[in-house]
Amino acid sequence: MQSTFVCLAALFAHVQHACAQTVVNGQIFTNGLAIIDAPASNSSLHAGSTIQVAIDVSGDGKLSQSASIPGSSQSTRFDSLETYLVSYQKSQNLTVSSGPGLLTRESGSTVKHWNYNVSTCVPAGSYNLTFYEGSRIDGQAYFSITPVPVEVMNDNPSGACSEGMNTLQDYPQRSSSPPSSPWLSSTASGSSVFPSSTGANSSPTSM
Ligand SMILES: *[C@@H]1O[C@H](CO)[C@@H](O)[C@H](O)[C@H]1NC(C)=O
Ligand SMILES: *[C@@H]1O[C@H](CO)[C@@H](O)[C@H](O)[C@H]1NC(C)=O
Ligand SMILES: *[C@@H]1O[C@H](CO)[C@@H](O)[C@H](O)[C@H]1NC(C)=O
Ligand SMILES: *[C@@H]1O[C@H](CO)[C@@H](O)[C@H](O)[C@H]1NC(C)=O
Repeated sequence: MQSTFVCLAALFAHVQHACAQTVVNGQIFTNGLAIIDAPASNSSLHAGSTIQVAIDVSGDGKLSQSASIPGSSQSTRFDSLETYLVSYQKSQNLTVSSGPGLLTRESGSTVKHWNYNVSTCVPAGSYNLTFYEGSRIDGQAYFSITPVPVEVMNDNPSGACSEGMNTLQDYPQRSSSPPSSPWLSSTASGSSVFPSSTGANSSPTSM
C-alpha cells in the first residue's frame, strides 16, 4: 500500500524543500536515506509520556553498517541525522535528538531507537516531528527535511518549557533532497542505489 503526501507549497516556491514522502507497509520512506519505522503519521503524543522514534538506517538492508556512522568514506552514507518537534502554529521547536547521538547509538543495529519524553510543558496542538538528514548518495551531498505530522495532547500544561528550546526558523526551510527515496526508485537491488534519470519516474514495486 502506498500513499504520497504532496506539499502544495512546492508548486509556488523557488527553492526546493521537503514536500513528499512515501509510506510503504507502514514505513515512511523519506526522500533521503532514512526510513522512519515509528511514529506513524498523525500519531497522538501525550504530554508526560514517552514516545519511541525508530529509524531504519540500513536502507531496508541495502546499506552497509559503516555507512550509517558519520565520517565513513562510503560514497552513499549518512553525515548527520537530527530530529525536532516543531510547530508553526504553536511557535515551538523542541530538540528530540541533536548531534550524532541517533546515528551512533545501538552499534550494530540497523534500526535506531530513541525514547523521547514529551514534557508536560509542551502545549497541545499540531506539530511535525521533523527529521533533518545530511547525506551523500553516490558521492553527491544532500540535505533532506522530512516532517511527520503528529498531534500533541496536553490536559495539564505546566507552563513554558525551559529546556531543549530552539529558534523557530522561517518557513519553508531550504533543503536539497533527491526527488524520492533512493531505496524505492532503484530497480536492481544491490547495484547502484541511486537511479539514473530514466529511472526517476519508476514506481515502487510492491513489497
Ligand atoms: C493525516 O491527517 C491528514 C489530515 O487529517 C490526512 O490528510 C492524512 O491523510 C493523514 N495521513 C495518514 C497517513 O493517515
Ligand atoms: C508541518 O509541516 C508542513 C510541511 O512542511 C507544514 O505545511 C505545516 O504547517 C507544519 N505543521 C505545523 C503544525 O507546523
Ligand atoms: C523519560 O522519563 C522517564 C520517567 O519520567 C525517565 O525514567 C527517563 O529517564 C526519561 N528519559 C529521557 C530520555 O529523558
Ligand atoms: C529547529 O532547531 C534546530 C536547531 O537549531 C534547527 O536545526 C532546525 O532547523 C529548526 N527547525 C525549525 C523548523 O525551526
